[in-house]
Amino acid sequence: MRVTHLSLSDFRNYESAEVQLAQGPNLFVGSNGQGKTNLVESLVFLSTGGSHRTPIDTAMIKQDAQAAVIRVRLEHDGRAVLLELQLNRGSANKALVNRSNARPRELVRYLATVLFAPEDLSLVRGEPSVRRRMLDTVLVQRTPRLAGVLADYDRVLKQRNTLLKSARASGVRGSALSTLDVWDERLVSLGSEIIDERSALIDDLREPVRDAYRSVAGDDHHPRLVPLLSVDGAQPDDDDQSGTGGAGSEAGERQGDTRDRFAAAVAALRSRELDRGVTLVGPHRDDVLFELNGLPAKGYASHGESWSFALSLRLASAQLLRTHSTTGDPVLILDDVFAELDQARRARLAASVHEFEQVLVTSAVLDDVPDALRAHTVHIQAGRVIEHDVESDSTADEVTS
Ligand SMILES: Nc1ncnc2c1ncn2[C@@H]1O[C@H](COP(=O)(O)OP(=O)(O)OP(=O)(O)O)[C@@H](O)[C@H]1O
Ligand SMILES: [Mg+2]
Repeated sequence: MRVTHLSLSDFRNYESAEVQLAQGPNLFVGSNGQGKTNLVESLVFLSTGGSHRTPIDTAMIKQDAQAAVIRVRLEHDGRAVLLELQLNRGSANKALVNRSNARPRELVRYLATVLFAPEDLSLVRGEPSVRRRMLDTVLVQRTPRLAGVLADYDRVLKQRNTLLKSARASGVRGSALSTLDVWDERLVSLGSEIIDERSALIDDLREPVRDAYRSVAGDDHHPRLVPLLSVDGAQPDDDDQSGTGGAGSEAGERQGDTRDRFAAAVAALRSRELDRGVTLVGPHRDDVLFELNGLPAKGYASHGESWSFALSLRLASAQLLRTHSTTGDPVLILDDVFAELDQARRARLAASVHEFEQVLVTSAVLDDVPDALRAHTVHIQAGRVIEHDVESDSTADEVTS
């Protein structure tokens, strides 16, 4: 798929912007703080339901405005789709597909983006929650139905935690806690599906990550992905762990199906959960261990190696979506990544993304971006799209901003 047009109203530092986008590479250049990331963030928000920079939706709305609108025209297989998302202060976001009401969550069915950003280093070095979010984003992109399962699991988890906390406060134990059994069942049923889907995704990512790492790093450091499952005893999220995700916290032998292992773990942990007033086992406490040359990447890999791993994860996700999705290639967004790479890695990354239908690149410095990605360059200044030279598409409209 490709985005043919993007309109923004009161989004971040844009009062209004109209941007025509070309097939293949599109480059946005401008000095720091002008709105390059904001522009591509609007596509990430519309396609994934959130920003990669903040969990606070209202940060997307222009200062002093009441609502922001992101409007995207897409083309796939000769068919055009119009997607709109309105973000409101103090009320729910609204979505439209071809001008008919839709749930914001539905938009992922039409537009898939894969974002590469400097923040991606935290995929390797950050907390388990960053890796869980990456996996879940790809899961929902390839199977949109799973958005409902993840949301339901979250709800059950919150309600179960509330119950555990109130039981702790009132000292209720034993049979008086029969309502907990009902929540356990829901937790295990939804959670097992998430655990299995994530494990399948990790399996599917292994090969493409190896290929992508070799093509980005130009070297084979044997990248490996190992699920760390709390139902099997891994405790990646525990406060008393250093969090390096070393082999010591790797899951033990896996026997039986996920539901049985999950149910057994819940039963075994019940008194500890009642002591702490929180659910200690489930996909919300899982992680995935990344290894290079047999060592955990977190805590061992160099800066460049960590970066290559993070880029490989994104490239591999893009490759997976490309083969699995009914909407064609995801739109690749490379926000400020070339500045982080040496010349050889820049060229290799440019070659790896070249075959995707549409690639959006941002950079503060034009010279950081390989020539192959400069065919369609747009300049951004103070929340305005100020120039628009289209070398390959002379029929494109002049930009109004
Ligand atoms: N809700 C908002 N309302 C108004 N301005 C905002 C809002 N959110 C962010 N901004 C402004 O947008 C600017 C940042 O834009 P952005 O992050 O897109 O910069 P950039 O061009 O990507 O810069 P860099 O090259 O440093 O990455 C900042 O000046 C910030 O104050
Ligand atoms: Mg930026």
